[in-house]
Formats: sequence, structure tokens, C-alpha cells
Amino acid sequence: MNKISRTWPSDAAGRVPYWVYSDPDVYAAELERIWYGPHWLYCALEAEIPEVGDFKTTTLGERPVIVVRSGPDEISVVENRCAHRGVKFCQARKGHVKDLLCPYHQWNYSLRGDLQGAPFRRGVRGQGGMPSDFDPKNHGLRKLRVEVVNGLVWATFSDATPTFREYLGERFWQHYTRVYDGRKLAVLGYNRQHIPGNWKLMQENIKDPYHASLLHVFFVTFGLFRADQKSATEIDATGRHGILISRKGDQETNDVTAGMRNFKSDIRLADPRIMDVVREFPGEDTVGMITVFPSVVLQQQINSLTTRQIVPTGPDGFDFHWTHWCYADDTPEMRLRRTRQANLFGPAGFVSADDGEIIEMSQQGFSHAPDEDALVMMGGREIESVDHMVTEVGIRGMYRYWREAMGL
Ligand SMILES: [Fe+2]
Repeated sequence: MNKISRTWPSDAAGRVPYWVYSDPDVYAAELERIWYGPHWLYCALEAEIPEVGDFKTTTLGERPVIVVRSGPDEISVVENRCAHRGVKFCQARKGHVKDLLCPYHQWNYSLRGDLQGAPFRRGVRGQGGMPSDFDPKNHGLRKLRVEVVNGLVWATFSDATPTFREYLGERFWQHYTRVYDGRKLAVLGYNRQHIPGNWKLMQENIKDPYHASLLHVFFVTFGLFRADQKSATEIDATGRHGILISRKGDQETNDVTAGMRNFKSDIRLADPRIMDVVREFPGEDTVGMITVFPSVVLQQQINSLTTRQIVPTGPDGFDFHWTHWCYADDTPEMRLRRTRQANLFGPAGFVSADDGEIIEMSQQGFSHAPDEDALVMMGGREIESVDHMVTEVGIRGMYRYWREAMGL
């Protein structure tokens, strides 16, 4: 690993240097220490692979993997790289197989990734073949540790990662199980996009309630997320995970909305069904946006439920995979409601289109100024949960942890 010769600003909590978003050595170290280090990475919904032999492919950090149901109650995650010559042998996005087969030399693996067959291993008519000490047991696919937690599949490359529940911490376990409460999930649909900005900007975006009530015309105008509402910005003990909590208000003009350029009191929805909100979770909160570091945003915005997987593709870009889901026992009306509300999000969503664009504009703005700093001192320099949204504490918390994980 290259040594990183960078220094953090002396105002440690209040500033983030722009080199974190553009330095290729920093990015290479992030892959090793964060993505392939002691962290749980989001892979899939369990509901995407219901039958033994069902698989989907995805990418964790930059490593392609196969997520496969290898037994009735068992999901395996293996690297999509043949143990023979390194071929990314599975090219399908999803499918159903009896075993895993590399097309190059027909090496064949069980659904758990064990090598079952290597053609001509003992040679042909006494000639060639693998050396006599070749033991198939030592040449399976690389297996990841896996936990399936209330419908979501998580994997980690590291043996040092604690259990998923410990990884979240007790407070965030409560947030997680508010929505992922053990009920079976079902997939409503997918969105995919590439965002030309550093992957951490997506984490920051959902740790940043300050922007949500200013940038997003839709949120502000229709009262989904606004600074005059009851809300909270919480972080876990390490600072790496965050949640934005809020309660829906109305389209009303008051002392707070009066100062918001993007509050449009005269806009009306031509089809108000997108705001046909039904209360369904315990408590008064209508929004719970969780960032599980480093790989995913778990979205609960009114009745819209989505996992948003972050797949870094270099220091200056990431793929963003949205999986819109519902509970398997939802009524047809609720499925339709969730599907309508999904129009708020995704690459072209009434709300989320703004985020993709602003992340690109951020990268454009600072990629040529690595030695300058961003300010993240809104709400002070403290790093602890607060009960409002006029704060950048989620970003400060993430970078406190990031520096620790990166050894900076
Ligand atoms: Fe946003």
C-alpha cells in the first residue's frame, strides 16, 4: 500500500481537506482499509434470491462478487474470480444455476464456492495434468463472511469485523429494526446511475440535513423535510453511521419557510397521490434515512423504502444501485403507493435528481484544489447526536472515524 503523505487541517473537526475526494493514493488505501477491511458491506435483499441456485452479481468496493442461495437457509457470497486464471466468470446480473462454472477452462465450483472439477486434472492418456500435490480443497473461490439480517444480505472480507449487530451498535440496531423488523421483503424495482463524484459525497449527502431543507424544492414546498419540523441527526458511538429523522409537516408559510428561496407556496401537485402518505411505523417520525458506513443508504421516506448501494469506481465516481422494496404481505394498494412514492427518488426522482447533480458539481468545484478545505462546522465542532437538522455533525462524525480507519 502506498504511504499517504497528507496532513489533516489543524481545525480537525471543523474542516475536511479536498484531497480526500481526489487523491488516488488515498482512494487505494480506502479500498484496502475500509472496503476490504473490518466493515460489513451491503450485498442484496434476501428476497432477490429466494430459491437454492438463485444468484445475483454485485460489486463490493471494486471486487465483483456473486451472492447465491447455496442452501434453503444459507446464502454464500464468493468472489467472482476463477481460482485458475482470475476470470470474472459470471457476467449475468442475476439468474439460476446448479453450480458455478468458468467458461474459460470449465473449472466448476459448488454454490458455496468449493472447487468440484478441473478438466484434465489427471492429464489425458497419461500426459499432462495438474501436479500430484494439487488439492482442489485449496483452490476454491474466495469466500466472504456473510450475515443475513432481517431480509438484507451483508458480507465482509475481514475476519476482524464484529457481528453485524455490534457493528451497528445498539442505538442503530434499534433504528435498523424499526423498518427491517423481520417481516419478509419483496422487490418493487431497480434504478441505477453513475454519479461522477467521490463515493463519500453520497454518504455525506445523507448525513447532511442542512442541505435537504434548502436544495430540495420538493421537500421544502410539500413539507417532507424542512428545518421547522421536529427532527434529529444521530450518529453511532464511532461516528461512522448516521440517521436523519424527521416528521412531515404541511405546505405552510411561517418564519422559517419565509427565508427559504426554494419554498414555493403557490405550487400545487397536479397528481397529489404521490403524497398519499400512510403512517405505518411506530412513533411519530415519517423519515428515517440511515447511512451504514461505507456501502449503503437505507431509505425510509414516508412510505417509500429503498436500499441505495454505493459502488466506488475510482476517486472521482461511483455507481449507485437503488432497490425499491415493499413488505411481501403488503396490500396491492400499499405496493402501488410505495411505487408512486418511488418517483421522489432514484436518478430522476423529484428529490434525488438534485443530489446526483450537486455531487457532480461538488467534484467539479474542488477536484483541482486538493490543498483547500471544506467547512463542516455547522452546529459547532461537537461530535454527538442532536435533535435538529441545522448541523453537519454526521459529516464530522464520519471523518473522525475515517481518519482513525485510515491511520491519518
Ligand atoms: Fe438531498
